[in-house]
Amino acid sequence: MGKDVIIACDFNSKAEVMSFLDKFTQEKPYVKIGMELFYAEGPEIVREIKARGHKIFLDLKLCDIPNTVKKAMKVLSLLDVDMCNLHAFGTKAMMEAAIEGLTREDGSRPLLIAVTQLTSTSEERMKADLLINEPLDKVVMHYAKNAMESGLDGVVCSPLEAGKVHEICGKNFVTVTPGVRFADGEVGDQVRVTTPEKAKEIGSDYIVVGRPITQAEDPVAAYRRCMKEFTE
Ligand code: C5P
Repeated sequence: MGKDVIIACDFNSKAEVMSFLDKFTQEKPYVKIGMELFYAEGPEIVREIKARGHKIFLDLKLCDIPNTVKKAMKVLSLLDVDMCNLHAFGTKAMMEAAIEGLTREDGSRPLLIAVTQLTSTSEERMKADLLINEPLDKVVMHYAKNAMESGLDGVVCSPLEAGKVHEICGKNFVTVTPGVRFADGEVGDQVRVTTPEKAKEIGSDYIVVGRPITQAEDPVAAYRRCMKEFTE
């Protein structure tokens, strides 16, 4: 599995994201388009960024009845994204339907990744709000296993969990990990963070990095630093 840095393009307009991407004249970074940009600009923004030569992780975190997710995934498969995702919480039946919908007529499909428990959900809230009484890490690993058994390619998880996910689901099961900060950078609102170098050591396949690159004084230099620490 090729390691790569995915830039979280958390902008809310086409103008902002394009002016950010214009800074990259030498390389075409892998980018993540989330709900904010997608809902603001619609599917056209995906086509335009794709046409510029970027790989795209479309982070829409689908979760609905299997038939609806299957049909939605079919639409996404036509957008020619490279990676998309859903909530493992939607059950194995939903994940299997998603794979079916996502698979194009020629048999190809984008990578499909599951969100296990959101990192914003604490064990306490999971118990009180969701009535799930197992330890959080057990739930995360169980959802990862469900995703694997449903034919998905991997999970979004904390870089600190990537090693254990690989132990349980195999080294080819992809780990996509946000919560990455430079050793000398600001942590911001992320709680469990790690550096690109450490994420590589633990075994992340893709790191998702937002503000340390998008808000840097020199985003291209920050991206290059990230790539160097993570992939070399
Ligand atoms: O700016 P920052 O590097 O914190 O951005 C991380 C990106 O990864 C954001 O787009 C955020 O929504 C996303 N993300 C996350 N934690 C998760 C899942 C997604 O930070 N558990």
